[in-house]
Amino acid sequence: MTTDPRPIAIYGDWHGHLGWALGSIDAAENAGVKTLIHVGDLGLDFPGRNRGRFEKKLNLVLIEREMTLILSVGNHDNHDTVSTLEIQADGLATFRSNIQILPRGGRTVVEGLTVGGLGGAYSIDQKYRIEGKDWWANEEPTQQEADQLVAGGPVDILITHDVPASVPMTSDLNLPADVIAEATKTRILLDKVVHRLQPPHLFAGHWHQRRIHELRHEDGSVTRVDVLANELANDGNGALVWPGSTPLRIETLRITTR
Ligand SMILES: [Fe+2]
Repeated sequence: MTTDPRPIAIYGDWHGHLGWALGSIDAAENAGVKTLIHVGDLGLDFPGRNRGRFEKKLNLVLIEREMTLILSVGNHDNHDTVSTLEIQADGLATFRSNIQILPRGGRTVVEGLTVGGLGGAYSIDQKYRIEGKDWWANEEPTQQEADQLVAGGPVDILITHDVPASVPMTSDLNLPADVIAEATKTRILLDKVVHRLQPPHLFAGHWHQRRIHELRHEDGSVTRVDVLANELANDGNGALVWPGSTPLRIETLRITTR
């Protein structure tokens, strides 16, 4: 008897929204998911009076349901905390028992698929934020991390937070040219990586919109880029991905908030 492979759930930004996070876990459970991947801006470990509460509740629910959430960081995640965690043999670092971190430039295996991570992004509103409180100077992926990822060889899925530069994106925000130029540096770095690695799949977030784009490489191969929307987007924040031969089967994961 053969059993169907278990799907993976992949999510866009949550920004510490507990009700949405719990609704997302419910949706994953209904789909038979055991491993959840988050593309960043989970809102991990923000300092303040309620520090740790969000993650504690999430972890309890994940333990109860025997699920693991793997976070590849965004810009709105505590980079200082993440950088102190030790990376294990499986390529991940443990933040809580069932909340694991996929480091920038790192990789792991989920349901038989090799998943690479190059998270982080530039915060366009960083001048309104306070360093160490809601902004971290090391929020962007580095060239060294990009090189480390490429040196590791092919991946089935690449998780980034921002979107590679050659994926056309339009923002409703009216940003000054210098801010756009700063933010685009990460997008250019990601673009070079995606052209060097040529992963069949890339998942990103950060732009708060759902978009699917096929990036064509010189040799004719294609990277399907899935940009995921943020919290409260019922049909845009989550995707189900089934292990198998590439291109992988991908479907919308419909989520309702708790
Ligand atoms: Fe972001």
